[in-house]
Amino acid sequence: MKELLRFLGGVAGLVAKHMSRRKPAPSPPARTIKADTDHIKAPSPAVTLPKPPVAKRGRRALVVGVDFGTSTTKVICNESREETFEVFRWNESSGIDSALLPSTLCISDGALHFGKKFANSSAAWIRSIKLCMLCARNNRICRCQNAIAENGLVRLPGVADPIRVDLIAAMFLAWVFRKVEDFLVERFSNDDLMIVWNVGCPMDHLDAAKSKEAWEQVVGTAMELRQDASNPTPLTFLTKAAEVFEDFYVPLESERSYAVQPEGLAAVKAFLESPQAAASKSYAIVDVGAGTTEISFFFNGLIMSEGGITRPSYLADSTKAIGGGKIDMELSEAWGCTLDEARARKESGRTTLPNLDTIQEIKSQYRRTCMLILKENKLKAPNDKHFDLFVIGGSGRLAELRAVVEGEPLAGGFSRDQTRVLEPPKGLRSRGEFAKDYDLLANACGLASAIGWQYYPPKDVCAMAATVVGVRDDRDELYPK
Ligand SMILES: Nc1ncnc2c1ncn2[C@@H]1O[C@H](COP(=O)(O)OP(=O)(O)OP(=O)(O)O)[C@@H](O)[C@H]1O
Ligand SMILES: [Mg+2]
Ligand SMILES: [Zn+2]
Repeated sequence: MKELLRFLGGVAGLVAKHMSRRKPAPSPPARTIKADTDHIKAPSPAVTLPKPPVAKRGRRALVVGVDFGTSTTKVICNESREETFEVFRWNESSGIDSALLPSTLCISDGALHFGKKFANSSAAWIRSIKLCMLCARNNRICRCQNAIAENGLVRLPGVADPIRVDLIAAMFLAWVFRKVEDFLVERFSNDDLMIVWNVGCPMDHLDAAKSKEAWEQVVGTAMELRQDASNPTPLTFLTKAAEVFEDFYVPLESERSYAVQPEGLAAVKAFLESPQAAASKSYAIVDVGAGTTEISFFFNGLIMSEGGITRPSYLADSTKAIGGGKIDMELSEAWGCTLDEARARKESGRTTLPNLDTIQEIKSQYRRTCMLILKENKLKAPNDKHFDLFVIGGSGRLAELRAVVEGEPLAGGFSRDQTRVLEPPKGLRSRGEFAKDYDLLANACGLASAIGWQYYPPKDVCAMAATVVGVRDDRDELYPK
């Protein structure tokens, strides 16, 4: 028996070697039809090749985080079985350039082109689909500076009626979903995939602006359209897309494989995936992107009543439609140059910036968000009011902004112990390649991090008892139960 096994092993080895050098050959007839073989003695090993290893179809669960940003869209896929995170690459380049898809629309030759960095003519160009959506949600301001869009309505050349920018966003995301899904299906061609999609959107946990449903309609329509999505998309596709969009109703959360999640919460989830999450402490994350600023305060601690698991308690959050784009507008005015020149000069980091209203606004957003914790009396123990600060997002790179936020005195005994750099999870593939730009990728990683979003929302976080400073022997007494 042992010899037989060894022999079979040898043949299998040969078959495997053979197959590894050539394209898989059609399977040899491993077994003849049963009716014929019943009366035949077991075939001798010399004449029967064992069945070549046929990959069995398995099931594979993936969570995809889609950070639909004002300037660029970033996608990270989480392969839950292997606990890896992988940055989706939009092109052949390396490093952060490969991970950024400009969230733009350009119209030419009767088609919509997504993700181009520059347009041939400024007339047929939306430099930020998301910023245009924010204009639609706040009619008092239209900051997107597009010749073809105003307050969220887009006039496409060659199309009679104006189109809602939400529909354009749905078509953009449909193509994003399609690209990523095609990649995953090819990568895991032997498995049946269960994909959960989490898309970030600028809202606070209470959805004070009541925008969640509108975002869900955009994302849900994109899901429906993804099979037919292409880039470029012919203008003729607009009719069908508009029909799907208008007829779409948002199914119950349990009946769909996608969700929209607050970007601030995504940042907290990114922290929880980082190797830094082990420490029990209060934290603040300030995420300053191109179009929005999200600020979250939370407490991360061991909950003894739940078997000693670490769970974040969300203390306060806020989102405001301000960021790098508005800074560029202020700078172009101050320096008397174009927006693009202002942005390039700002990003080079070689110029000292003048005093900017946007930075002052972010500073007061930070102070006010912290005051929400005091207002609701969420934290009482003086030690818990000492927090570490993370500043992420592209505009968080501005030294002037960091200095202003760090220097801002907070009310009620809150004080920053240190500012830290958020680290990527251990399981991030090509970690070395992306680590230095993780401030841009953190939200996508957080969105990809889990199917369930286990945290205590602020309304469930009871006021935490005050303790004597310095004595912390029964920490779980302080945590929300
Ligand atoms: N080195 C830099 N210094 C200053 N600003 C920078 C730098 N690099 C990028 N930025 C700015 O960061 C912004 C892009 O950051 P990020 O990718 O976090 O935003 P986004 O996700 O596209 O937008 P949002 O989160 O607001 O929707 C742009 O405004 C860009 O000008
Ligand atoms: Mg962002
Ligand atoms: Zn606008």
